[in-house]
Amino acid sequence: MQPQPQPATFQLPAQMAVAAEEIDYLYYFVYWFSVVFFVGIVGVSLYFLWKYKRRPGQKPEHVPDPTKLELFWTITPVLFIGYLFHASFSAYIKQATAAEGAMEIRVRARKWAWDFEYPNGSREGGQLYLPVNKPVKLVMSSDDVIHSFYVPAFRAKRDAVPGLYSHLAFTPNVKGEAQVYCAEFCGTSHSGMLAKIIVVDEEQYKKHLDELDKMPEKCGEKPCTPATWGEQLFVKNGCPSCHSRDGSKSLGPSLKGVFGTPQPIAGSGPVTADENYLRESILRPNAKIVEGYTTVQMPPFVFKDPQVDAIIAYLKTLK
Ligand code: CUA
Repeated sequence: MQPQPQPATFQLPAQMAVAAEEIDYLYYFVYWFSVVFFVGIVGVSLYFLWKYKRRPGQKPEHVPDPTKLELFWTITPVLFIGYLFHASFSAYIKQATAAEGAMEIRVRARKWAWDFEYPNGSREGGQLYLPVNKPVKLVMSSDDVIHSFYVPAFRAKRDAVPGLYSHLAFTPNVKGEAQVYCAEFCGTSHSGMLAKIIVVDEEQYKKHLDELDKMPEKCGEKPCTPATWGEQLFVKNGCPSCHSRDGSKSLGPSLKGVFGTPQPIAGSGPVTADENYLRESILRPNAKIVEGYTTVQMPPFVFKDPQVDAIIAYLKTLK
């Protein structure tokens, strides 16, 4: 029988991927190894401190050369460390090499969001659906600085580096949601650079891909409108980390009341924020940059037409 993935413990989150069992075994091995030897060595030291303290009338004795003892306490730790190196390295290699026929997902990191591209070319920001029990290979890169893709429930972490592809392999084996963090400090909103991996069965995964580029039926409790779908896309793609919706200053201009008002464009005169301006600013953000915001560049976003329409519909509601 296959061992069952373990629930969360005091030290580790619930296991949701095949590799978790091996990693956790290593973790607890190193942990208890350290605890036992720390307590043992400190305990014996304290005992000797007391037993061999200076007493009146006693002279220190000469100890003959303890070669055998020295060999013992040198070789034993070397064997332990050799075992640890072997076990850790083979666990590491398993995460670095994907299984044959693994599903390839393209991951793009940028300040401060994760974008995912499925094998069929559909894209999604902030969440990734994966079928359960299917090996996955992430091909990752970064648009700006070094980020680190970290999924504690999968016991998986790898840097996403600008100008370089990095790989991470795992096989989710439990249905449910796994939290993704950025584990490399990357600027102001580093702690908000989050995503979810949603592990479902094959059928739900296919259904999700079919619906991905279409307007969903429900947005929260209510049926979706272009504006409420637009709001979902706005949040999921991490836009609020740079654009406030209440007029407050952030890394990018606030989007409160942006539609239909003149925007002061750096290097040229004001431009009215109509549908064309908003569309261009979403797809090619650096074509026209609002004055005062030229130091931080917004990365370009890839959306299908209905999605751009929905986001514009949402921006119109921010009065
Ligand atoms: Cu990206 Cu921290």
